[in-house]
Amino acid sequence: MTEYQVIEGDQTVYRDGTIKLHGADGFEGMRKAGRLAAEILDELTTFVKPGVTTGEIDDLVRGMTLDAGAVPATMGYRGYAHSCCTSINHVICHGIPSEKALKDGDIVNIDVTPLLDGWHGDTSRMFYAGEPALKAKKLVDVTYQCLMLGIDAAAKPGARLGDIGAAIEAHARQFRYGVVQEFCGHGLGRLFHDAPEVIHAARAGTGPELKPGMFFTIEPMINLGRPHAKILRDGWTAVTRDKSLSAQFEHSIAITEDGVEVFTESPKGLHKPPY
Ligand code: MF3
Ligand code: CO
Ligand code: CO
Repeated sequence: MTEYQVIEGDQTVYRDGTIKLHGADGFEGMRKAGRLAAEILDELTTFVKPGVTTGEIDDLVRGMTLDAGAVPATMGYRGYAHSCCTSINHVICHGIPSEKALKDGDIVNIDVTPLLDGWHGDTSRMFYAGEPALKAKKLVDVTYQCLMLGIDAAAKPGARLGDIGAAIEAHARQFRYGVVQEFCGHGLGRLFHDAPEVIHAARAGTGPELKPGMFFTIEPMINLGRPHAKILRDGWTAVTRDKSLSAQFEHSIAITEDGVEVFTESPKGLHKPPY
């Protein structure tokens, strides 16, 4: 049984397994946090190139976040010490920024989560360093399509959570790509990771009903090869077991009376590479 909880004003919320249903002030807070997250990624589009280190990207993200009066929600989160995740090539997610420089042909996901006035904006996009191979660019394109098809599925009246994963998996399957199952989208708002778990490969018509006021992310991770992940000894970096390339895009969205609102849409229309 799914429990929903209507949130009013600045009521304290707990990670108690309930799905939160937000009102106007939640939408206001998430619009600002989501917009900032998207603007940070917009700024990175001209910066990401061969020779730039992921540590330099992290410094830039931290600077932009703090300058906007927000904090990176990842800093200090379960011991994570950085302002974003930078996941290169066969890294699925949670790549740790370092001294490592991007090389020509790399594809990299940059995932940012500013916490602004108590609300979390969580979004990621793929970036190209130089000119990736055709098969890498196709994976990136299809992964973006997977995210948007997931959002479309959520926007249908009477939709259930499983409809999102069903749409994503059906699309990925056409290209024989693997949909990662070990990591999910998630409810968010005043909490960074809350119920529900948004799985990216699911059966249509299953799972909780989507109700107006729900806030959650959709963040499909799609592999060129098999779907399976393993975590490196640093405790964070998730890579494909078969070392195949992996791509991801993420938006934070709300269910509304007549569809969805995307909080993290690029103000500059820089939705996917090439930028
Ligand atoms: N931003 C990631 C997400 O989409 C979470 C990163 S947690 C970290 O949920 F600690 F790895 F940064
Ligand atoms: Co997320
Ligand atoms: Co994220």
